[in-house]
Amino acid sequence: MKALILSGGTGTRLRPLTYTTAKQLIPVTNKPILHFVLEQILNAGIKDIGIVVSPETGGSVREAVGDGANWGAGITYILQDKPAGLAHAVTTAKDFLGDSPFLMFLGDNLIQGGVRELVQDFINSPSDAIILLKRVKDPRQFGVAVLGQDSRVIRLLEKPQHPPSDLALIGVYLFRPVIHKAIDRIKPSWRGELEITDAIQELINMNFIVEAKILHGWWLDTGKKDDILEANRVVLDEYATYNIQGEIDDQSIISGRVEVGIGSRVSNSIIRGPVIVGSNVTIKNSFIGPYTALGNGSIVEDVSVEHAVILDNCHLKNVERIEDSLIGYNSRVYRKESRGRALRLLVGDDSEITL
Ligand code: DAU
Repeated sequence: MKALILSGGTGTRLRPLTYTTAKQLIPVTNKPILHFVLEQILNAGIKDIGIVVSPETGGSVREAVGDGANWGAGITYILQDKPAGLAHAVTTAKDFLGDSPFLMFLGDNLIQGGVRELVQDFINSPSDAIILLKRVKDPRQFGVAVLGQDSRVIRLLEKPQHPPSDLALIGVYLFRPVIHKAIDRIKPSWRGELEITDAIQELINMNFIVEAKILHGWWLDTGKKDDILEANRVVLDEYATYNIQGEIDDQSIISGRVEVGIGSRVSNSIIRGPVIVGSNVTIKNSFIGPYTALGNGSIVEDVSVEHAVILDNCHLKNVERIEDSLIGYNSRVYRKESRGRALRLLVGDDSEITL
């Protein structure tokens, strides 16, 4: 059994962060989303892993993951020259996949509980493919499935205007090599992509058995800012511990599940968990509220921040309240009292500021 992680694509909905970072590398609780995905795959016992990357972000993905030695896995990078769709990514990886069955995992998706059981079920199942589904309120932005008897999938549609069910396709699929034949038979969709959803529909048309499993735990598709904040909230809620490795002075109060990394210093501040503070962070005269992740090397002075993801090496100073915010690497957010109420901004392309 092999695994294929899709870590290409453009990440347009997360601009400007994705001008410099692959969206799969954006950290949730200070850990890249792709690392969660890799851990879940390894936990399912799969060690032969291919990662599809794009020309723009392939280098940074390689840097963040390495050759697999640190993970006890073999990692093969597969360059997809353009983001021509999920099925196109599978075709690009054909040499790596050979005639092996495989788990396909979208590199920007996180699911509760991992994929161990699902992989075991597939190994012991007569099905030709298994897809993972979740009931959602608005399925229009996803692939949508219709089930028949015995959890068999009878119909699939990609991002339908009028969804025939509330069962959305989660970015986790199990395939046998016959999927390559189905991909050979499909044409690009209205959005110009070779859709894996259409390829699975083609499997059904060819009378192969496609089985569905429904996920009851959480599923996070981290395509947009609010999704990242929600992922950070959910993962902190589930995994944050009390673990203080940095220095906390006598004037500070730490309450709840708070992690503070090595080399960090907290003075005259309150931190109320769940919160994660990376290493070498300085926090002075500030309030860090629940569901906040502060990246390594950041400096926070005279600030109140809550429900936010602040990436590495940021400097926040003199700001009464920051919330529901995602702040990119090396950013600075200051208030200069003496200059009146005017805003002085240096903001990258595709940024968003809510005042
Ligand atoms: O998140 C679940 C949804 O993912 C499913 O419900 C849909 O059926 C499925 O088509 C997919 O929809 P998206 O439009 O959200 O996919 P997105 O373009 O965000 O790509 C998903 C991942 O695959 C992402 O990590 C980028 C990567 N990718 C994407 C494309 C189009 C590639 O590696 N190559 C590609 O060509």
